[in-house]
Amino acid sequence: MSGSSGRVIAVISQKGGAGKTTVAVQLGGGFHAMRASVLLIDLDPQESSFRWAESAPLLDSDLQLDVRKMSGLELIKQIAALQSEADYIVLDTPPSLTHPSTMAALAVAHLAVIPVVPGPTDLWSTLAVERLILNRMEHSHRLHGCILPNRVQNTALASDVLDLLKEFTLPVLDAQLSQRNAYAQSAVVGASVFQLGASADAAQQEVRKLVKAIREQLGETV
Ligand SMILES: Nc1ncnc2c1ncn2[C@@H]1O[C@H](COP(=O)(O)OP(=O)(O)OP(=O)(O)O)[C@@H](O)[C@H]1O
Ligand SMILES: [Mg+2]
Repeated sequence: MSGSSGRVIAVISQKGGAGKTTVAVQLGGGFHAMRASVLLIDLDPQESSFRWAESAPLLDSDLQLDVRKMSGLELIKQIAALQSEADYIVLDTPPSLTHPSTMAALAVAHLAVIPVVPGPTDLWSTLAVERLILNRMEHSHRLHGCILPNRVQNTALASDVLDLLKEFTLPVLDAQLSQRNAYAQSAVVGASVFQLGASADAAQQEVRKLVKAIREQLGETV
């Protein structure tokens, strides 16, 4: 798949702990599993996904993600080169909409993915993130946005949550990440659920479905 155009996906949320790093790393693992080349860029000064990957050298190097830490300014300067290097570039961002790195991510992204933990508080605070993305989309024809339910407790979203999701203008992905030990566990070994083997089969299926939904949002035929 190398030689394609380097699609840039930014994982954005104002809310700390919504699952930006988790989603970015699992997405990286999912693209890797479909044999696409992927770079994971850590724009969070907390260096979360960077530290995560640093603890990974014990793992099979075939499954290891290429994670790079940089500032928003470096991202802007290097984006064309990064795009020529990989099929997908996944950006993990800090939990602030006004942070220069978040701004830089939105300036270069084709798709902003907003993880939201279903529940009234998170859903309402996510409306502010959505407003920012919609505003950016008015200035950039390249940018699209979507909502990803994360830490979903039951297989089906509860009807009151579904009602709240209707408040969003951006599409809510037909994919979700459930609340699963496998996601937290893979973080401990510095990897995605694809490195946990058959025991994480359900989580792997979920991430594959997420990758498919993301590719559809990017306008790729899947
Ligand atoms: N789907 C999930 N299932 C189980 N645990 C999850 C899931 N998503 C996130 N978590 C856990 O929730 C915590 C916060 O997730 P994560 O670090 O990805 O959030 P974040 O948005 O990157 O946070 P920050 O804003 O601090 O960077 C972590 O301990 C992570 O393992
Ligand atoms: Mg994080």
